[in-house]
Parts: sequence; structure tokens; C-alpha cells
Amino acid sequence: MIPAERRRTALLLIHGFPHDRALWKPQVEGLKDLVLPIAPDLRGFGDSGEVPDTMTMSDYASDLRTLLSTMKVDEVVLCGLSMGGYIALAFLSKYPELVRGLVLCNTRATADDAAARKKRQALARKVLADGTNAVTDDLIGPMLGERALRTRPDIVNGVKAMLDRQAPRAVAAAAKGMAMRQDRSGMLSGITVPTLIITGADDRAIPVAESEAMHKAIPGSELTVIRNVGHLSNLEDPATFNAHLRLFLISVGLRSTRNVA
Ligand code: MLT
Repeated sequence: MIPAERRRTALLLIHGFPHDRALWKPQVEGLKDLVLPIAPDLRGFGDSGEVPDTMTMSDYASDLRTLLSTMKVDEVVLCGLSMGGYIALAFLSKYPELVRGLVLCNTRATADDAAARKKRQALARKVLADGTNAVTDDLIGPMLGERALRTRPDIVNGVKAMLDRQAPRAVAAAAKGMAMRQDRSGMLSGITVPTLIITGADDRAIPVAESEAMHKAIPGSELTVIRNVGHLSNLEDPATFNAHLRLFLISVGLRSTRNVA
């Protein structure tokens, strides 16, 4: 066991669906003075490699574990948004010894019901038949809050471009993986690492009630609901998001980028 002061610690930023590492640009830029930020493309997304037919949340977690070994990172503060939160909970369940803190953003611990699973299968079929931009118009509405949709064409266009550039096979594999993800509600009361839950008051993709339920279940967790933002709280109000994340990172003991003894 490496002593705490010699551990190489990073902030592992896990993007949502169907995003890529560009989602986390404001956090990488805004927090790199404090911590080593790692914001990878999940398998299939962005510039990463090929995917099988289905990628489970556990498959993504294993990929992230391999990445951390390659980068010689000993422990992480896990920060996942939406699908990234599903993956963060899978990672915590598989590799608890690597996790120093947990940040769950605009996400939920519950699994899909039958209707949601059916919708995912239909989306996977459509994207494989007609391409990713055949589904992006349907996805973008619930993905942003009213204020961003009305007043921030830069954010709307940036998110639309991010969605459009994802490979259909990656989008389909993730949709199928999410459809079969397990309900993680049962593990919440046993989480012992410091946990911050962040969401947007105007999140129409995952209701605030899901964050409140996680907050109630995770001992000692903190809940921040950012006003006037939707599902992509980190992009819609990066200043507020980063301020909360920074305080949390400091509270778990991160003080400089050079925390390698
Ligand atoms: C996401 O942003 O990752 C998605 O909203 C997750 C989901 O579809 O459940």
C-alpha cells in the first residue's frame, strides 16, 4: 500500500451520452492548477477506438482502470456526469480502493424501466440505420436548460457538434449498455468516501428528485442544485460548477497539481 502522501492522485472526469472528452473542457482548464485532470474519450467516442455491439457500464469502468494503470495513477476523485455517473458507480463498486472521493453530476442510481429500455433499443437501431445526426435533434432539447437553449447559441451549437461527431456504433453500444445497467441504489448507503452530488434545477433529462434520493441515501454526502441550468450543469454554468468542485477537491485534501511525492 502506497502511503497517502506519496499517492499520485487525479480527477477522473467521465463524460455522458453521447459525448466525448470535450464536455469537460471548462473543468480541465479551470481546475488543472489544483489537480491532475484526466478526461478520456470513453471507448468508441471522440477519438477512441472501436466498440463491440454493447458496452456495459462495467466495461467502461474496466477501460478506465486500465487507463489509470497506464498513467501510473494510484487513486482518483471520480466525477461522472449522467452516463458518466452510472459508470462512476460501477467503477466504485469494482475498484473501491482506488477512489478517494466521488462527484455525481446530473445522474441517478436507479436502472431503466421497461419503457426506457425499449426506447434505448429503438435509438440504437435508428442510429445504426440512419447515422448519429438522425437522433441528435431529439437528444439536444432535454440535454440543456431553458436559459442555455434561449440565450446561449454557442453552447447549443457546441453540444450539437459534439453529438453529431460520435460514431453510430459507439452511440448504439452505449445505449444498449445503459439499458442493461443494474440498479445501484442498494450500494448508496455503504458509500464511505466523501461524496458531492451536483445537478441543475432545470434538468429535464434526469429530475432533481434523483439527486435528492442519492443525497438522502449516501451518508454525509453534499448536494448542490445549480439554478438556471439543465442537464449539462458543468457546461451551462462552469463558474458555479467549478467553484463547488474546487471546494470539494480541497476538502478531500487536494492542494496542488504536483501531489506526487
Ligand atoms: C447522458 O447525458 O449521459 C444521458 O442523459 C444518460 C441517459 O440517457 O440515461
